[in-house]
Amino acid sequence: MKTLGARNIAIGNRTKQKIPNKAMYKIMLEEARRHVSESHSLAKVCLSDRPRTFALMQIVADLAREGATALDLGAGCGPLTFAFLSAGGGDVIAVEKSSELCRVIDNCAHIFGFEDRILIYNRDIFDPVMKLPKNIDFVLAELIATGLLSEPMVAAMQHIRPLTHEGTLFIPEKAVSTITLCDQRGFPISAPETYDFVDMRDVERNSVDVIATLTVRTEREKALATYVDINTSLTYPDGGVTGEFQSLCNRLPMEITDYALQLKQFEVENGEEVKLRIRYEYGEEPIYVTRVI
Ligand SMILES: C[S@@+](CC[C@H](N)C(=O)[O-])C[C@H]1O[C@@H](n2cnc3c(N)ncnc32)[C@H](O)[C@@H]1O
Repeated sequence: MKTLGARNIAIGNRTKQKIPNKAMYKIMLEEARRHVSESHSLAKVCLSDRPRTFALMQIVADLAREGATALDLGAGCGPLTFAFLSAGGGDVIAVEKSSELCRVIDNCAHIFGFEDRILIYNRDIFDPVMKLPKNIDFVLAELIATGLLSEPMVAAMQHIRPLTHEGTLFIPEKAVSTITLCDQRGFPISAPETYDFVDMRDVERNSVDVIATLTVRTEREKALATYVDINTSLTYPDGGVTGEFQSLCNRLPMEITDYALQLKQFEVENGEEVKLRIRYEYGEEPIYVTRVI
């Protein structure tokens, strides 16, 4: 295995062993607890989100094909990489900017016997130094997904697209984001409204600027609109859907710039239609949500 800048890749006896996802998960978690500090803890938090991680590992394992090459962008502790390899996938190039996380992947690869099938780049996804092969069969890019806001999932997919072919599977493949109006206790006072749809295979946009119309549904006659919930569901090439991850859902305090009144909160009536403008760049916070009157 090669962690770039460190050792050379050795393609020797290629291990093809199958290891249950549960067993790999336990070891990844132990390695993460041992080697990952608080400042690099995002991937550890994601890994600890068991329902999320197991769902993703299963999706990848079900799709993996023998001899296929995968690129794991923002590989974290490597759950997708190892699920792919254990299920019989060919080789993986794992790109991860945190050296602590690269160490976890490296250690786990040795423990699992996959060291000859992984190339680890301790680099930024956009670093031009990396020599990535053409004809990538699988793009794994499980970056923070809520709103496609916090990490460069869309930009990463766009960046890597020239290295893909018609049959390449993008994991995730699509993202649907919804917005829900909530009262001062955080309880929903509208149904979720879809405001953004992204297909990773052909998305050209880098930002969102839309107006969503939400209908207030509250048991009382009136309520105080105080928050919005943004949630994103991800769809995979097999039609599977994930979302509402324990650790990855934010509730965003609403920055209402009511044009007339500059209110933080506003009163709404049951059945009223509320228009909200939602603006942000993919991969970057802040998000601006303003009421349109
Ligand atoms: C949300 S974590 C998910 C990790 C792993 N894919 C998983 O599903 O468990 C995203 C990872 O991407 C890495 N990352 C974010 N932006 C990156 C970039 N520009 N280049 C390389 N790695 C990046 C972070 O360090 C983090 O470990």
